[in-house]
Amino acid sequence: MEQDYRVEKILYTQEFIENKIKEVAQWINETYKDSKDLALVGLLKGSILFLAQLIKSVKVDHTIDFIVASSYYGASKSTGTIKIVTDLAHDIKGKDVLIIEDIVDSGITIVKVIEYLKTKQPTSIRVASLLNKSAKRKVEFTPDKIGIEVPDLFLIGYGLDYQEKFRNLPYIGILKKEFIKD
Ligand code: IMP
Ligand code: MG
Repeated sequence: MEQDYRVEKILYTQEFIENKIKEVAQWINETYKDSKDLALVGLLKGSILFLAQLIKSVKVDHTIDFIVASSYYGASKSTGTIKIVTDLAHDIKGKDVLIIEDIVDSGITIVKVIEYLKTKQPTSIRVASLLNKSAKRKVEFTPDKIGIEVPDLFLIGYGLDYQEKFRNLPYIGILKKEFIKD
């Protein structure tokens, strides 16, 4: 696989990631086989590649919607509060909601998003995260379905960014130190 010159190491190849995504899709097909109204809610922007790849293998009827929550990488420090920058376009009342997330790190974002979405009275609410970085967890939370358990490293690619770039890489890797500026 061709590797971007700024990438130190590829941790997960496209093939590996996409096999894991198929397993997530199978979990969805099983978990929601009797669901009347499944709504997948992608957390932008990190979840775009995961969601796009995922739904190719989801057989249960569903709708797709998106939510944008402010990321703590934009602020100086994690405050434990998030802002809903762009809300859902459709009502989720009475629906089975599955949040699609790229990575759960401290857990602060996802816990706050769940708290917020619950006020909209969905029937159920679960989380499928492509990656889970449990080493830095600050709040108690485990996604209902995890694609890959990852080590405590700053990852880029397959939707994950460093300063809004590298989301397009078809693999997940780490950056060379010389390209990380603080
Ligand atoms: P949390 O609130 O700490 O769980 O942060 C979750 C968000 O931080 C994710 O949705 C990502 O957008 C971002 N994030 C956390 N870890 C990484 C990483 O290793 N690379 C890129 N983005 C990350
Ligand atoms: Mg994210």
